Amino acid sequence: MKVIVKEDYSALCGVAADLLEQAVRAEPSCRLGLATGSSPIGVYQELSRRCREEGLDFSRVHTVNLDEYVGLEPGHEQSYRSFMDRQLFSQINIPRENTYVPLGVGDMEKNLRSFRRLLSGGETSVQLLGLGADGHIGFNEPGDALQSEAHLEELDERTIASNARFFADASLVPRQAVTMGMGDILQARTLVLLISGSGKEEAASRLLLSGEITPRWPVTFLKLHRDVWVLLTRDLASRIGY
Ligand code: GLP
Repeated sequence: MKVIVKEDYSALCGVAADLLEQAVRAEPSCRLGLATGSSPIGVYQELSRRCREEGLDFSRVHTVNLDEYVGLEPGHEQSYRSFMDRQLFSQINIPRENTYVPLGVGDMEKNLRSFRRLLSGGETSVQLLGLGADGHIGFNEPGDALQSEAHLEELDERTIASNARFFADASLVPRQAVTMGMGDILQARTLVLLISGSGKEEAASRLLLSGEITPRWPVTFLKLHRDVWVLLTRDLASRIGY
């Protein structure tokens, strides 16, 4: 594991953007794995700036997103599809048909088949990840076991409570999501985990300060990967005694 500690959030976003840019420059038609939540927003702003000002070219890049809420239409303001359109896809020169965010409405069996087909049909160069306070990655929630492949997941009360900030009221947060499985995530050549936001101390310690791998803390499965970058601020590192 390569652990990068920086002074502030924007420096972390710069490092994540560098890793994604390197993948695109090395292979202009690569596939990038993308994430939602607050953590990657600065990375998307930096990639958008590099596209606009430095000619970073996304015209042949393909993207696949980790997850989507079940029950939100793609056009819903809080769907992960509309988040991605707003934060990144509309800001860079990527053709819309090159972007894939799993669909959370309609026939979910059919949606899962299409998601699984897409994942197994290509290799992801770099997968960007955020971290849930309960240790979830994508929407792989803690439990007795994790799923390897794309599947539906019941969201934890803790996840619903922390994502309620994006909705008018907690009762409007979807209870289910469709997500890449932990096996899918570990298939990417490089993983970049950006840890930002409050309440993530215990999840970060389970990853960085313990040798244990447990489905009770899904993030600990990243220890099995040979090329994982963990990015965190100096403040968080010192709070957990890293
Ligand atoms: C959601 C997403 C995760 C993300 C997590 C953390 O639950 N499904 O992929 O990592 O939120 O979000 P934030 O970065 O807003 O703390």
